[in-house]
Amino acid sequence: MGSLQTPLCDILKIDTPIVQAPIARATNPAMAAAVSNAGGLGMLAFLRRDADEVRRLISETHELTDRPFGGNFILRGLEDTDDRLDACLESGVDVVSFHWDEPFEYVDRIHGAGVLVTYTVGSAEDARRAVEAGVDIIVAQSWEAGGHVRGNVATMALLPMVVDAVAPVPVISAGSIADGRGMAAALMLGADGVWMGTRFVASEEATVDSSYKERIINASETDTLMSSKVFNRGWEVTARALRNSTIEKWEAAGSPEVGQRPGEGEVIAKGADGEPVERYSSIAPYSGVTGDLEGLSNWAGQGVGLIKRVQPAADIVREITEEAIAVLKKARTLIGE
Ligand SMILES: Cc1cc2nc3c(=O)[nH]c(=O)nc-3n(C[C@H](O)[C@H](O)[C@H](O)COP(=O)(O)O)c2cc1C
Repeated sequence: MGSLQTPLCDILKIDTPIVQAPIARATNPAMAAAVSNAGGLGMLAFLRRDADEVRRLISETHELTDRPFGGNFILRGLEDTDDRLDACLESGVDVVSFHWDEPFEYVDRIHGAGVLVTYTVGSAEDARRAVEAGVDIIVAQSWEAGGHVRGNVATMALLPMVVDAVAPVPVISAGSIADGRGMAAALMLGADGVWMGTRFVASEEATVDSSYKERIINASETDTLMSSKVFNRGWEVTARALRNSTIEKWEAAGSPEVGQRPGEGEVIAKGADGEPVERYSSIAPYSGVTGDLEGLSNWAGQGVGLIKRVQPAADIVREITEEAIAVLKKARTLIGE
């Protein structure tokens, strides 16, 4: 693999500035370790994981890699974070990432454990506030992103605005980056690295049903919808998913508000734990979920159209690094003397 280094690589002690984004239950120790062993940064996701599970996931990842990796919490007032954060810091990660609500009350505790903090933002103002509160690395998530989306600004505008707002603090670009061209472009807009979710859902290691991976591979860039009104049972915020039969029925009914949607309350699947999963749930087709998987929230970003096959996570890291290097070398030839 050629070499592509940014200051973020020194800060995180990684070889290539690619972060495997936390992608809820699709993430697992095998995926995080594969990415870290390939020179990127693997991330675990602790959504709906209790403190014991946090410990187990981290310890399993340590068995698979000696390289740095991180863990992610979504702050949304629904889960107690204190215990789980303590479990995470005791078990030993290199980075703690937060999404959604501001994590500022945790920053000192995390720094005290010698660990770095990232926060995912959707605007320059949010980035500025985070840096003032001591956040070490900003993740600028554009509206093209898959899953829960913090803002509604596109990468081309968001990324340079965030970079200017917080320089010299490193910024990682998240949202629709799915190949080396996207990585090179993000670096040119001032990012220090890239944070890719949907591309890693289509990795061999991702713990999702194979039909979800196939839907990603077959989708084009026009096949996603961002809305706060569809897949929001339990959490009514904006998120981007693949268009599917649930979205079609909802749109055919005139895109009604929560409470008046067709099939509201209908159980269409079972969770891995046997729990009923209703239409409009935010549960994706993770491994072990059974039933109408197509009708569930198949989270994906607009870059989904660029994803052509399921690959080992390590190959994704290598391929994207090589592609980005080739694009950046080619760009050099455009400049005259
Ligand atoms: C299936 C899926 C699950 C996600 N779960 C989480 C999560 O648990 N925590 C989090 O901070 N972000 C989560 N995200 C958002 C990603 O971290 C990231 O911001 C996003 O995937 C980037 O856009 P992309 O999918 O176009 O690469 C999720 C995204 C997807 C696609």
